[in-house]
Amino acid sequence: MSKTNQNILKDRHGRMLNYLRLAVTDRCNLRCFYCMPEEGIQFTDRENLLSYEEMLRLLRITASMGVNKVRITGGEPFVRKNMVDFMHNVSRLEGIDTLNLTTNGTMSADIVPELKKMGIKSVNLSLDSLDRDRFFEITRRDLFDKVMQTLDKLLEYNIQVKINAVVMDGRNIEDLIPLVQLTKNQPINVRFIEEMPFNGTGRQYEEFKWNHKAIEQYLRDNLPEMTALPFIPTATANEFNIKGHQGKVGIIAAYTRSFCGTCNRLRVTPQGTLKTCLYDNGVFNIKDFLRAGATDDEMRKLFQEAVAGKAKDGFEAEAKRGKVFESMTSIGG
Ligand code: 5AD
Ligand code: SF4
Repeated sequence: MSKTNQNILKDRHGRMLNYLRLAVTDRCNLRCFYCMPEEGIQFTDRENLLSYEEMLRLLRITASMGVNKVRITGGEPFVRKNMVDFMHNVSRLEGIDTLNLTTNGTMSADIVPELKKMGIKSVNLSLDSLDRDRFFEITRRDLFDKVMQTLDKLLEYNIQVKINAVVMDGRNIEDLIPLVQLTKNQPINVRFIEEMPFNGTGRQYEEFKWNHKAIEQYLRDNLPEMTALPFIPTATANEFNIKGHQGKVGIIAAYTRSFCGTCNRLRVTPQGTLKTCLYDNGVFNIKDFLRAGATDDEMRKLFQEAVAGKAKDGFEAEAKRGKVFESMTSIGG
């Protein structure tokens, strides 16, 4: 079915939603303390996950409504069996022009040639520390070398790398400048993310110290050569250039939520819940309707209604549901 203006995904605030973030699993082989407790969370049984067929169908349907960009995220995507085949299938879908990936890099070094083959141009690598011991303290697993192998492979294959580092008081502040130094001689973008209290334990901060302003000030104090770049609509990062560096630095105000105005994102959780905001409670469960035999037209109507009701911003979404406590891995990173 071709895209007509009628079935394009537009919200009440005039935003066109063309970007879908698909969380393919809530499982992960790391236990980043800002995401999950040590013992993990209650992971979803297989029958309550969207199957690959269901995911492909929902992508076909949303592609017919203007979604042309998909990010595979999780959990860690590659802990799910046959993920590479699935991603090849996604890359072949009509209308999907951009396929991106977020991974922790611990299982993906050998997969990089496959990523290249499926036309992936950019990968977000989660890496919060360049120090093996601190990496272990943060992720509770000794897999730092694996991540670095993936980073090298991605660069070797000319895939754009964006490193995502969550900024955590008392945990990795001493890593911020070394991470920025990665951008000097390599085309790596490093993005510092405000820590959101989505850690699966209900733990909140006493004081939110490292907000985007504090991160920016810290970087400026240490990097006088840093200059702000214009904000790109629909982006989440405020970007900066550093004279003489090949890559850029970004700050993502994930908790302050200063970028909602131009948001173009939809999310699907591993269980198939459609979210029109990271901070909302989910609008409906796609899997339930697919399994009850809904037609493509019926699904399109549901998507359209859901999108129409997208909250103005993350604060409005949160106000409707109350405080968010769950793990980032069940929300869909
Ligand atoms: N706060 C901010 N970012 C988080 N991520 C996971 N949990 C949190 C959190 N509590 C990010 C990680 C990873 C992506 C999937 O989500 O940095 O890159
Ligand atoms: Fe795994 Fe990502 Fe959560 Fe870390 S943040 S435990 S890498 S899903």
